[in-house]
Amino acid sequence: MKISVIGSGYVGLVTGACFADLGNEVICVDNDLEKIKKLKSNKIPFYEPGLENLVKVNVNEGRLKFTEDTGEGVRNSDIIFIAVGTPPKEDGSADLTAIENVGKEIGKNLNGYKLIVEKSTVPVRTGEWLRSVIEKYNVNNAEFDVASNPEFLREGTAIHDFMNPDRIVLGVENEKSAQILVKLYEPLNAPILITDINSAEIIKHASNAFLSMKISFINAVANICELAGADIKKVAKGIGLDKRIGEAFLNAGIGYGGFCFPKDLDAFIAISERLGYDFKLLKEVRNINDHQKLLPVKKLKNIFGTLNGKIIGILGLSFKPNTDDMRLAPSIDIINALVNEGAIVKAYDPVEIENAKKIFKNIDITYCESPYEVARESDAIVIVTEWNEFKYLDLIKIKKLMKENVIIDGRNIFDRKKLEKLGFLYKGIGR
Ligand code: UGA
Repeated sequence: MKISVIGSGYVGLVTGACFADLGNEVICVDNDLEKIKKLKSNKIPFYEPGLENLVKVNVNEGRLKFTEDTGEGVRNSDIIFIAVGTPPKEDGSADLTAIENVGKEIGKNLNGYKLIVEKSTVPVRTGEWLRSVIEKYNVNNAEFDVASNPEFLREGTAIHDFMNPDRIVLGVENEKSAQILVKLYEPLNAPILITDINSAEIIKHASNAFLSMKISFINAVANICELAGADIKKVAKGIGLDKRIGEAFLNAGIGYGGFCFPKDLDAFIAISERLGYDFKLLKEVRNINDHQKLLPVKKLKNIFGTLNGKIIGILGLSFKPNTDDMRLAPSIDIINALVNEGAIVKAYDPVEIENAKKIFKNIDITYCESPYEVARESDAIVIVTEWNEFKYLDLIKIKKLMKENVIIDGRNIFDRKKLEKLGFLYKGIGR
């Protein structure tokens, strides 16, 4: 099939590369000329395991192309996926300006029947509105349909998630659109759920909200465990073995970050409010997460009294492992709070720290080449992201390098007893 994907970010580029790999002809579009230049020279503008190779293979086989010209993408394809950003506005609601601009371009360039599919996460009823935007600019009076096909892939495992989805949700207006999308997704052999567009849009927001709720729930229970002298890891296992609950997303820690959960939760709260429902439950999910992010700083203050002049080592800056994405990462809140308390911060992340340098441009941080360099002369180390390499550190070496021997394990990656035996003062979350 001939496909264009407008917006070449985490979702758009993975979607485009995967559809190409499934044998379709794909044009990936982005209005960021620099990004397109990079892509044309086989460079991926962000870190996502396996993506560079997938793009290279499909470009070489002639199935994947890039352009900065939305019109070119639209005119040369039958199915158009919209995967542009929907960043948060001041009030938490989603900013749909990019979708509107794409809608205008699509309208102007329609040259025959096309199926326009929302892939970006959008508030319910965006489909109806998108149809009216396209219609307004549809100078050729061409036939078109709008559909919603929310994406559930995770950063860091994006290609695997795209190719092996738990389900494919297709929100459609009619049988014709359903048939086109079912055929497109046939090779994935995954369960397909066909709904109306409004329901598909809500499925996406409700899924992310539910997962955020699961994390905040286990984090609240972790806080109780800490007060009661129980171990959240065992408690989570005991809860998760109930099939109705499930073990996934019950890892307690310093909370969720990234550009999906926090922003989508705010957007879902905002759209609910606009529709006349006060989603108090989700507001509390957000409060718990905000509290959780600053736990390492609280724990350090309890240990040291004051953090003024203390050297604190941060291991992990990205919002989760296997990505260089730092958007709304807990590391940002933690580092800002530490610096406000007068601490001196050293940090290490296994993937490039360029994003961090931009975010912390006004803060003095020593960026280190290894966890051991972070440990040197540090009073405490905080595990912020559970990168695999941190799980296999030479802890005897770490202890020798540190000035004091405090470890705050924000992701519960270490065995408390083992660390205490080595002489560390160990504080996990909820244990
Ligand atoms: C999330 C969803 O999992 C995807 O299904 C969805 O497509 C995506 O948002 C999106 O809307 O685009 P992602 O943000 O890439 O994916 O990352 P997750 O793996 O879901 O992790 C989100 C955050 O939750 C991370 O900060 C992670 O550390 C935290 N988390 C996750 C926990 O604190 N505990 C857990 O048990 C699981």
